[in-house]
Amino acid sequence: MLVGEKVVLRPPEMEDVDTLLRWINDREVGRHLMPHFPYSRAQERDWIERVSRSESDRVLIIQTHEGRPIGVMGLHRIDQVHRQAELGIFIGEKEYWGQGYGTDAIRTLLRFAFDAMNFHRIYLRVNADNVRAQRCYEKCGFVREGTLREAVFRDGGWRDQHLMAVLADEFRRCCSTS
Ligand SMILES: CC(C)(COP(=O)(O)OP(=O)(O)OC[C@H]1O[C@@H](n2cnc3c(N)ncnc32)[C@H](O)[C@@H]1OP(=O)(O)O)[C@@H](O)C(=O)NCCC(=O)NCCS
Repeated sequence: MLVGEKVVLRPPEMEDVDTLLRWINDREVGRHLMPHFPYSRAQERDWIERVSRSESDRVLIIQTHEGRPIGVMGLHRIDQVHRQAELGIFIGEKEYWGQGYGTDAIRTLLRFAFDAMNFHRIYLRVNADNVRAQRCYEKCGFVREGTLREAVFRDGGWRDQHLMAVLADEFRRCCSTS
């Protein structure tokens, strides 16, 4: 388990299936994620099984120190040669938004990724109008590298996404010990 100031990160278990299903099928939570038809329990079980076996994904449940699961995050497209991966995160329990849990979860994962697993670069894509997420990423040392123009279709129109990334040295300067 990875322990931060506000959260603990642990692998998903099959017992998490109903919680994950409730989060992923919540339209408000999913507004800035990849659009999808509502998932079934069987599909969610398959996803847990698949990511548990995957070499290119590492998924972790975010829980409070009191033991309440509040979200999920992961490193995806893990590239062993170039030591980089794509970060994904959502807090599924909406009453926890905007209270620093996302920032602490990301810093905790990045600390481990850079200092223990020798990653060099972690990147992500974020919708241009997802200001809260961008602010959270900036607090973890991410910088905007560019804009992917009209990269996603949402609410009936094409929308921009930003590409953001943080390098190991930048993270150490910014936030490693906080
Ligand atoms: C994105 C997400 C993971 C961030 O986690 P979080 O715990 O809510 O974020 P934090 O509280 O750590 O940081 C958010 C920051 O944005 C600020 N913020 C919140 N709402 C904001 C808004 N509407 N506009 C500008 N800033 C905002 C907060 O004040 C905070 O900054 P501060 O500490 O300087 O005050 C979480 O909100 C979430 O899961 N959202 C829904 C799914 C999602 O968007 N996932 C990301 C897809 S790329």
